[in-house]
Amino acid sequence: MAELLLKNVTMKFGGLLAVDNLDLEVPSGKILSLIGPNGAGKTTVFNLITGVYKPTEGTITYNGETLNGLHSNKVVSRGIARTFQNIRLFNSMTVLENVQVGFHCRTRSGPVRALFKTRHERQEEKDIILKSQEILDFFGLVGHQNDYASNLAYGEQRRLEIARALATQPKLLLLDEPAAGMNPKETAELMELIIKLRDTGLTIFLVEHDMLLVMGISEVVTVLDYGQKIAEGTPKEIQQNETVIEAYLGTGALSKKKKPEQQKNITRSRQHD
Ligand SMILES: Nc1ncnc2c1ncn2[C@@H]1O[C@H](COP(=O)(O)OP(=O)(O)OP(=O)(O)O)[C@@H](O)[C@H]1O
Ligand SMILES: [Mg+2]
Repeated sequence: MAELLLKNVTMKFGGLLAVDNLDLEVPSGKILSLIGPNGAGKTTVFNLITGVYKPTEGTITYNGETLNGLHSNKVVSRGIARTFQNIRLFNSMTVLENVQVGFHCRTRSGPVRALFKTRHERQEEKDIILKSQEILDFFGLVGHQNDYASNLAYGEQRRLEIARALATQPKLLLLDEPAAGMNPKETAELMELIIKLRDTGLTIFLVEHDMLLVMGISEVVTVLDYGQKIAEGTPKEIQQNETVIEAYLGTGALSKKKKPEQQKNITRSRQHD
């Protein structure tokens, strides 16, 4: 069963067609990857799902209910969480506090109620700390819980972003380039973490340029080019697909892993805006 369904989704920015009549199904409990050259429209797809933008045309449904026009907060409460291509942590908060913030999306205690805490709310707060620590443990970050987020190494910050997203207790997790800037060891660890998350029943929708990661863990790979879906299939089918090879021609992106600093250059560069 498809949890998330995009039907004829189009997004125009002025005269630019960022997403062009896209049909997409993200199957429940699987890892689906969306790949494509820079500017292909991948992040825009995430922004459309999470209510950052409203599609110019088309419908987005999650478990049969429409997401079109929903505010980002409401999308989170439907069980969809995301991370961002450019890390967006609260740098002046500790690692633990960053995860606690995620949990607060789901609790009733607003800022005013927080001043006058009931016993129930104090218990809720304690539970959140314990649950946050469990998540941090899963991501190998519990030893850093009292460090400022800004003091973490880059790969750790990327893991913390996922940890914070998980604290909103999603069923569907959207990851936008989680391996960007990671070294091969960190990427291999991330790969295992994503598989473990899938094995807990989460659905993973991944946008990533690291082809070793994508081809190593995805059940389905969808390829976007100029906002259009040009191919979809298993990793093996995609690696052999002529149209895909053409879109990535000369980049080597489908076969070899590149160093992070080369990552952006392997995909065809395009003038934006
Ligand atoms: N808010 C916006 N206003 C105008 N144009 C935009 C906006 N957001 C994205 N675009 C344009 O839409 C196109 C798709 O951008 P998007 O960020 O979705 O690409 P991407 O596939 O995520 O690329 P990358 O791999 O570089 O992250 C690009 O041409 C981009 O410049
Ligand atoms: Mg992007």
